Amino acid sequence: MILSNPLIIANWKMGVPCSEARGWVDQFEKLTTPASRKHAVILPSFLSLSIVRQVDRALFLGSQDCSAFGEPAHTGSIPATDIKEIGCQYALIGHSERRRWNGETDELIHAKVIQATAAGLTPILCIGEDAQQRKIGKTKVALRSQLRHALQPLPEKLTALIVAYEPVWAIGGSAAASPTIITETHRWIRQILDRLPIKHSLIVYGGAVDEMTLPLICQLPNVNGVLVGRASWKAESFSRLVLAVHDKGSRLV
Ligand code: 13P
Repeated sequence: MILSNPLIIANWKMGVPCSEARGWVDQFEKLTTPASRKHAVILPSFLSLSIVRQVDRALFLGSQDCSAFGEPAHTGSIPATDIKEIGCQYALIGHSERRRWNGETDELIHAKVIQATAAGLTPILCIGEDAQQRKIGKTKVALRSQLRHALQPLPEKLTALIVAYEPVWAIGGSAAASPTIITETHRWIRQILDRLPIKHSLIVYGGAVDEMTLPLICQLPNVNGVLVGRASWKAESFSRLVLAVHDKGSRLV
């Protein structure tokens, strides 16, 4: 799969109700251009996925999670094959909110990467250190461990991967990580990814990205885009982010 670069990914979490999904997409289409939308990926709730797909068949879509299992006897789970069938290209895996509130283990996350890859989805693998790990100087230990567990053994068919670096302490807060932290961490993740036999890989940053922080973050080396929570819940604000990234991209060409 060819990945647009930069990518701007909207993680709706539970922030856009089903009843607003259609209006969100209508508004997003009105405010953006087809060319700018090539940089956008939308991750609606599972229940909103088909609504979004029906409104716009060209949008790049992903799920916020997928089942770690392939066999049918897993009541309440959403198989990666269904996510693919409904028209998604991506599956977000290992978000820190799922690690924290749903008790997701590294083992489970690895199983999800396998399922997503087998179904033909590109995993968006989230990694990030918490405040305590950063405070005691264990950021790289934490990130390395998350990467290793999620990717080893590497699924054979994994040809494209997006790693989302989301420091847990920045998610939902008022300030994104500093340019120094993002630059240093992305450079380090890039070195690790370049040693793996994965054909296409991107690294996006997530955590308190908004209109103020986006331009600077997207200019940093080894930043291939952003993963946006709150600033994606209104089509107007997400559209402004997409247009800003697109304009910047056009200027760079
Ligand atoms: P915020 O952009 O709301 O901080 O959330 C970030 C996030 O968790 C994206 O996955």
